[in-house]
Amino acid sequence: MKCKVCKKDAVVSLRSHNTAFCEECFLAFFSRQVSRGIEHEHLLTKDDKLLVALSGGKDSLALMLELFLQGYDVTGLYVDLGIGTSSEKARKVVEDFCRERGMSLLVKSLEEEGLPIPLVKERLRRPICSACGSIKRYFFNKTAMDFGFSVLATGHNLDDEVARLFSNTLRWDTAYLSTQGPCLEARDGFVRKIKPLWRLTEFETANYAFLKGIQNHYAPCPYSAGASFSSLKVLLNDLERRMPGRKMDFYQGFLKRGKPAFFEEGQGEERNSLQQCSQCGYPTSANGLCSVCRIREIVRE
Ligand code: FES
Ligand code: ZN
Repeated sequence: MKCKVCKKDAVVSLRSHNTAFCEECFLAFFSRQVSRGIEHEHLLTKDDKLLVALSGGKDSLALMLELFLQGYDVTGLYVDLGIGTSSEKARKVVEDFCRERGMSLLVKSLEEEGLPIPLVKERLRRPICSACGSIKRYFFNKTAMDFGFSVLATGHNLDDEVARLFSNTLRWDTAYLSTQGPCLEARDGFVRKIKPLWRLTEFETANYAFLKGIQNHYAPCPYSAGASFSSLKVLLNDLERRMPGRKMDFYQGFLKRGKPAFFEEGQGEERNSLQQCSQCGYPTSANGLCSVCRIREIVRE
């Protein structure tokens, strides 16, 4: 197969775009998709101070590298969950990645916060994944606010977004349907959150990471049976195989027509109920303590 742009031998074929690219043209395609995603949804400008949440996986590292190469002011953030060798390996991958490329990195250790995930798991009587998710989101946002970053970026790709959208739709979760998208604007105590890889699939990001020689750490979390939405992703990939381009159509159609339709309904509920955590001052919809301070209490008991 030949590259559709320059007719050299192709290394990546993309059915949803009905095209194939050589290495150079694929990397240019990838950059173009990131820029388009940023411009189309007004995600950020060159004046923004950007914090990128790095897990050690290929998506967040690819995102960090691409934004860095495009000249954005980026700093990485690694939240060390304290899950034995798994967290150690991921941390080393992230540290090496940033050091080798001269990128700045902040590390937040949950061990030092008294909240290592294995300890939280032991003390908590509910599934660890949702607590772990809350803790991570808390420290992503808090670090961004404390260090004066204007935007927090995560490596969610089109497959993540479509699976989440499908899951929200299956439950008709109007609150989530009113806010889901590549950009969540800042509001009292919350920094703006963006997903610049929203136009790129997992496959495309994996190819980018491979061609750019990004070493990543892939190990499923020892506490979760399967990655979130994995069965929905299988379903959606099957649909995409039968009807190439359908994922992107579904997602873009939602952004254009679905999301605005849910906007008022979801916004009202959320906005009215935000207060400050009585312990740490973090915005919360609960009365008294925020979810992370409540976890702290339980862990201390
Ligand atoms: Fe947090 Fe698995 S419980 S990554
Ligand atoms: Zn709190």
